[in-house]
Amino acid sequence: MKFDLIRPVILAGVLGATACGGSGSGGDSLSSASSSALSSSTSSASSSSLSSSSASSWAVSEEHLYDNASFPVGVAVSAGNESYSLLEESGQGQKRRDAVIAHFSNMTPGNIMKMSYLHPEENTYTFADADALVQFAADHGKTLHGHTLVWHSDYQVPGWMKNYSGDWQAMLSEHVTNIVGHFASGEVVTSWDVVNEAFAEDGSYRSADSVFYQNMGESYLEVAFRAARNADPAADLYYNDYNLAQGGAKLNAVIAMAEDFMARGVPIDGIGFQGHIQIDWPAASVMEQSFAQAAATGLKVRLTELDIPINNPYSASYSYPDNYHAELTQALADRQKRRYCEVVTAYLNGVPEAQRGGITVWGIEDPSSWLISQLFANKHDDWPLLFDKNLNPKPALQGVADALNGQACE
Ligand code: XIL
Repeated sequence: MKFDLIRPVILAGVLGATACGGSGSGGDSLSSASSSALSSSTSSASSSSLSSSSASSWAVSEEHLYDNASFPVGVAVSAGNESYSLLEESGQGQKRRDAVIAHFSNMTPGNIMKMSYLHPEENTYTFADADALVQFAADHGKTLHGHTLVWHSDYQVPGWMKNYSGDWQAMLSEHVTNIVGHFASGEVVTSWDVVNEAFAEDGSYRSADSVFYQNMGESYLEVAFRAARNADPAADLYYNDYNLAQGGAKLNAVIAMAEDFMARGVPIDGIGFQGHIQIDWPAASVMEQSFAQAAATGLKVRLTELDIPINNPYSASYSYPDNYHAELTQALADRQKRRYCEVVTAYLNGVPEAQRGGITVWGIEDPSSWLISQLFANKHDDWPLLFDKNLNPKPALQGVADALNGQACE
């Protein structure tokens, strides 16, 4: 974990590629919740089922989160051999599938479409896990946001690529072409994070820790975007990064890059704000300005990896083990509901309808969140997502729904 000098930063680039999501057992006020209607019903559950037959302590009445959105409403999912897999037959797999089917129109594979997963050796592509997820999506009328074709992060770059000594432009172009090309005909993968996290906080290109920059300079971005467009002209192509929502040098640099691309005819369709934010930072009004600043380019804007932990480890009042939130109380869940609502409202206010690329929450149920290991070092639980550990929808889900339905946040 690294953070900048002024405000908290989650530096995803240094994190491992395997599923994390620690499963701390203590102190969860949700543990008494028994199965909700979601667990037993299918996507055709009647509108009253969640509230009437649910034994969950949460009063959440929303039936389909995505119903009133004119853009993709997504969730990051695990698959393949990962913990918390959407496709597992045992455990809570069916509950996860019911939740996804009911509430989301789009999914992002949290890990299984990253570089080292899909392209582990120079001449080896392993598409089976991703293909299984694509099949699930196709079976249920969902689309996928591919994540991510190029990412400097050490654990995500396959070893052979780090040591590559040939023609980097040709190699990277082939990597992108083969992966995008594989999924192009299926009409399920409708968008891609082409390059993830190319900029440092000061707006310069990330260099010291990027083999791509070291071997190709900034041209690697252009090479990747051009190859992606050629391989699937129909897919929306995104540049994706964290710490954009608070505005400043990094967001300015991303926008300048995008504008330069557009001026030179390099294909790009959108800017992705990861959205790993805090319960109290950045202010929703600041986020709205940042979304609007990105939207002023004319490109699509997407909130790609939204999560909102209850504990803010950077706040002055947080100290473990003396002073932190060990339980998700109703009051905290309600605060999180309001925050989710305000953030989604900021997105709707900041981005004109035609440019809304979508909103994706980074994980299904709370204990699966990467933040538990990566932000809190497995010291304690947190509850950053829209579903509790039993896959009951939380007030946070109602908060997103309220915003999508144009209601005031409460
Ligand atoms: C995270 C996954 O959620 C974890 O399971 C994995 O260990 C590390 O990567 N920014 C990104 C995502 O673009 O790919 C990261 O996903 C979270 C931060």
